[in-house]
Formats: sequence, C-alpha cells, structure tokens
Amino acid sequence: MGNDHIIVERRDAVQVIRLNRADKKNAITRAMYGAMAKALTDGDADPAVRCHVFLGVPGAFSSGNDMADFMVVAMGGEGGTEVFDFLVALARSAKPMVSGVDGIAVGVGTTIHLHCDLTFATPRTVFRTPFVDLGLVPEAGSSLIAPALLGRQQSFALLGLGEGFSAERARAAGMIYDVVAEDELESRVMTAADEIAAKPPEALRLARDLMRGSRDELVARIEQEGRLFRERLKSDETRAALMAFMNRKKG
Ligand code: COA
Repeated sequence: MGNDHIIVERRDAVQVIRLNRADKKNAITRAMYGAMAKALTDGDADPAVRCHVFLGVPGAFSSGNDMADFMVVAMGGEGGTEVFDFLVALARSAKPMVSGVDGIAVGVGTTIHLHCDLTFATPRTVFRTPFVDLGLVPEAGSSLIAPALLGRQQSFALLGLGEGFSAERARAAGMIYDVVAEDELESRVMTAADEIAAKPPEALRLARDLMRGSRDELVARIEQEGRLFRERLKSDETRAALMAFMNRKKG
C-alpha cells in the first residue's frame, strides 16, 4: 500500500505510515500527502485498525513541504487539494495516532505531531517551524493547537520566531510524550501503539473525543490558515525565501 515515498503497512491492529524519501530528508510532495490522507481515512474506516503510527527514516522525520511544490504555487500554478485532504484527515482522525521522530522535523514535519496522541523523539531531534522566515503563516491548525498546548509564549517562540525546539525542550513544554534513544525509538513507538490497540476501542474513542473537543473548529482554522498560506506563497517575501533555498550553495 502507499507509494514508494510513503510506505503503509499493517502490524496486527496498528497501521504504520512511514515517510520514506531519505534523499530529500523526507520532504513531502503532493503525492505523499495524498497517500497519507488515504491511509488515514482507510484506516479510520477499517475496524481492524485501532491505532495509526507515523515514522520517518533515521535522521529525518521530515524537512516539511516539498519546496519545489511551494515554488509551483508561488509562480501561479495549481497546488491541488492533497495537503488540505491530509490535514483534515489528521484533524478528524478517529483512531489514536502515535509518532516517532528522529532528527529533522521542519514545518509540517513538526506540526503533524501536534495532532498526535503520543510522540516519541530522540535526543538529536530538533522541531522547527520557520513559517514566518519563509514569509508564510502557521498551518495544520498549529495556530490553534500550539497556544493551547504550549502556552502563548512558547508557541510564539516556535511558530513566530521559528526557534528550534530540542526534544528535551519539546518534552518539557508538553509538546511530546517522551525522549528515547535512537535505537529504541521504533520499539517504544510500537509498544505504545500495541498498548493503545489493546484498550477497549469504544471507551478509548469516547475518552479521546472528550479530550480533543470540537474538530469543526480545528478544521475551520486549517481552512483559514490555508487561505492565508496560499496568498502568502505568492508574496514577494516568500518568493525571495524560496529562491534563496533553491539557489543556496552547499558547503
Ligand atoms: N523540499 C525539497 N527538497 C528538500 C527539502 C524540502 N523541504 N528539504 C531538503 N531538501 C533536499 C535538499 O534540496 C537536498 O537535495 P539535493 O541533495 O538534491 O540538493 C536534500 O534534500 C538534502 O538536504 P540538505 O539541505 O543537503 O540537508 P541538510 O541536512 O544540510 O539540511 C534541512 C536539512 C532540512 C535543514 C534543510 O534541507 C532545509 O532547511 N530544508 C528546507 C526546510 C523547510 O524550510 N521546509 C519548509 C517548511 S514550511
């Protein structure tokens, strides 16, 4: 299932969605968003699936949205609906979501985890959302979730200043569940997912829904952010930042 860059597999009652585009540090293309949206909605609809898991590759959960796809929209091209479809599937996910992060976690590579129920990260992980530096605005409902989760000041540091959050800082701020060694990451994630899958599913669904509150408000915020984000992609500030990335010299 999935495509080459998104590998979807079932391990008993757990559905694992793995970002697998290591040569681009798991930058997420439209096709990858589409595959992840489908995996989430298919898994939600299947009673045999009781938990979703997100994993990346060693050293990279994700470097965020593919910059070439951003450039297409910045130059007036079509952006498609895949990103929105994925973000709505994430916001409305009916099953608990666990994630494991090792290393790079930029942009949506960070904001995905704000939707997860348990996130494990390794000590070398840095969460970063350079939206404003790119001339953009927060996405994936992060402008709503982060202040609620982290408080206004830490969320301003994350989303406004684009400060990097080490795994330990993210844990102390309440953004993730635990910091675990690299060689233990996937086993800890799968153990947590198996534990979730063994709970009475209906009671867990009700408990989770109570804790999450209104999904409609979250989806409305994702739409609002998305409108601004698409406008900003065509701004001079963003075009200049994208050109700087494309033309950067590597040391
Ligand atoms: N979109 C497309 N390609 C990306 C990418 C992205 N978001 N992030 C990294 N890549 C590509 C690089 O262009 C490079 O490709 P190349 O080998 O063909 O030149 C490859 O992935 C490796 O990246 P590199 O920059 O060499 O790795 P690094 O370890 O030095 O740095 C990052 C990793 C993530 C810090 C850096 O690539 C980066 O800042 N990427 C952009 C992140 C970003 O701003 N995302 C959008 C957030 S809204």
